Amino acid sequence: MKIIGTGSALPKKSVTNDMLSEFLDTSDEWITTRTGIKTRHIITDERFEDLATEAAARAIDAAGLCPDDIDYIICSNVSNYFVTPHLSSLIQGGLGIKGPGCPTMDVNVACVGFVYALDLCDALLSTGRAHNILLVAAEECTRFCDWTDRNCSVLFGDGAGAVVVSKGDSLISCRLTSVPMPDVIVYRNPMEPTPFETGEGVDVHMPLQMKGREVFRMAVSSASRDIQQVVADAGLELGDIDHFLLHQANLRINEAIRENLGQPEEKFPTNVQRFGNTSSASIPLLLDEGIREGKIRRGHKVLMSAFGAGFVTGTLILKY
Ligand code: UT7
Repeated sequence: MKIIGTGSALPKKSVTNDMLSEFLDTSDEWITTRTGIKTRHIITDERFEDLATEAAARAIDAAGLCPDDIDYIICSNVSNYFVTPHLSSLIQGGLGIKGPGCPTMDVNVACVGFVYALDLCDALLSTGRAHNILLVAAEECTRFCDWTDRNCSVLFGDGAGAVVVSKGDSLISCRLTSVPMPDVIVYRNPMEPTPFETGEGVDVHMPLQMKGREVFRMAVSSASRDIQQVVADAGLELGDIDHFLLHQANLRINEAIRENLGQPEEKFPTNVQRFGNTSSASIPLLLDEGIREGKIRRGHKVLMSAFGAGFVTGTLILKY
């Protein structure tokens, strides 16, 4: 595969830490020092599917294509008002792609969804099943949070990033992992009770729960390990990588990974300060910004690495 266009979209409302401390027992000082986050965009009266479609339209435009050139749509998504129909089908409708020759599907691999889906795109393109794939990562995690709980709600933001990928030999190496650890980050959908329930074993609805410190430790150790592995698999040195696009959950996590790797700060772009944790959208948002600012250029070696609920990780290197 190769990436031929990128795009992104953010909700219009930007919320500062001080705005949160008006109704939560928190402070700008705590949030900034523990996470690096200063502001985040939060969905208000926009329709989430419109935001995802906007990012998609920008990526198609940047690729020099029109919507009807797209023959497969994949959407990475954990949080979405619609459980069904799936978001990629709504995006298809929003773009005016009539089908039927354009399959659509969503993948849910938590914050790692974009990296997993890029690997999937490579498989679909190399077997000739698709020619121009639209991959959108769109998330509204702020809807998962209990807004009376300072532990989680201060961390997240909403947003969408998209790429168009077509056939090419950009992907240099990739490592995806999954270890079943259901308690470290968990959110269950509210479900209607059936008349057959006994009540036993049925969990009451809970907002997002997270074992922050455990996730922090696993994130640093797994990303440091995976990054060194994919670099070695590619026959490269860490110094050969031009840009390390890490999942943006916490600036301290990324700083610890960077220190383990002994690489300079300018190779690690960040957006968590402005956008919070946007789950699987965080890496495509970084990518789009880096390309638009002219920092990520053709021929550069770009490493992407993410971790998330599961516990899952995904790391890949591509030549942009
Ligand atoms: O996309 C992947 C998803 N998740 C992550 O990557 C999260 C990884 N973990 C983290 O980023 C960090 O663990 C957190 C930012 C979530 C928490 O930072 P921490 O340094 O691990 O703090 P902590 O959870 O150990 O809490 C320290 C204190 C506690 O008070 P006490 O018990 O020491 O009195 C918390 O109640 O900070 C308190 N606290 C807060 N105080 C002010 C927790 N949240 C807040 C808050 N404002 N928003």
